Amino acid sequence: MSFLQINNVWKSYGQAQILERLNLSIDQGEFISMVGASGCGKSTLLKMILGSEVATKGEISLEGKPLVAEPDAERGIVFQKYSVFPHMTVLQNVMVADEFTKSFLLGRCFGSARKQVKQKAESFIDAVGLTPAINKYPHQLSGGMQQRLAIAQALMKAPKILLLDEPFGALDPGIRADMHVLIRDIWKKNNLTIFMVTHDIKEGFELGSRVWVFDKVRHDPQAPMAYGAQVTYDLKLDTDKTPDIAALTQKIAVN
Ligand SMILES: Nc1ncnc2c1ncn2[C@@H]1O[C@H](COP(=O)(O)OP(=O)(O)O)[C@@H](O)[C@H]1O
Ligand SMILES: [Mg+2]
Repeated sequence: MSFLQINNVWKSYGQAQILERLNLSIDQGEFISMVGASGCGKSTLLKMILGSEVATKGEISLEGKPLVAEPDAERGIVFQKYSVFPHMTVLQNVMVADEFTKSFLLGRCFGSARKQVKQKAESFIDAVGLTPAINKYPHQLSGGMQQRLAIAQALMKAPKILLLDEPFGALDPGIRADMHVLIRDIWKKNNLTIFMVTHDIKEGFELGSRVWVFDKVRHDPQAPMAYGAQVTYDLKLDTDKTPDIAALTQKIAVN
């Protein structure tokens, strides 16, 4: 049994067929990079894995059970521009991720439970290198720091699956390189299964243990919305070796 199974999944919005015939098996611990033209349905697939969108046809199952059609603690998501709570400090932003789960009526925990939540938050803040900014507010942080904060928030719920939607797209190249090191480290240490959408094919190959390329294989000029995109390339990479990105990019272009 695979960890996550995507069985003949189709997704449409109204008349527009977005995705079609997705059949994919994912093992726990894989890092899947998703690349493809803008608007082809990558974020839509992430949302279906998150549970905030439902497949029009087909099924996604996690550890043998159909996915709950709503977000839960097993799956965490980080968007390109994450809206962290502006009126909360770094520490409060990370703590609240857990407090909402544990005690969503009160919104916060007390006593020893609170102490535990605080310790856990501090360890994730440390893991993403934000300890020096622990009492700062989001507007006092750089873009890269805000993304680190978003990642710490997502990790706080100890998800099995981390969904990253162009998480580094808005960052400067130098900061991006630091974030790559960070996310790889977090992936390994937390035994996470990661799905990351990226515009940057090089980033996709560098980080992923597997790369999915999305494309439409069927076209009808009379009915441009009739067909959806599929995963046209599913490339498993040897993560112990530095990928030959030029050769892989070539492979996608030529085929
Ligand atoms: N909630 C929605 N209602 C209608 N159409 C949508 C909705 N969400 C996305 N779409 C459409 O689905 C297509 C795929 O969107 P998306 O998954 O965001 O693409 P990508 O992430 O690959 O750029 C786009 O044409 C988009 O306009
Ligand atoms: Mg998108």
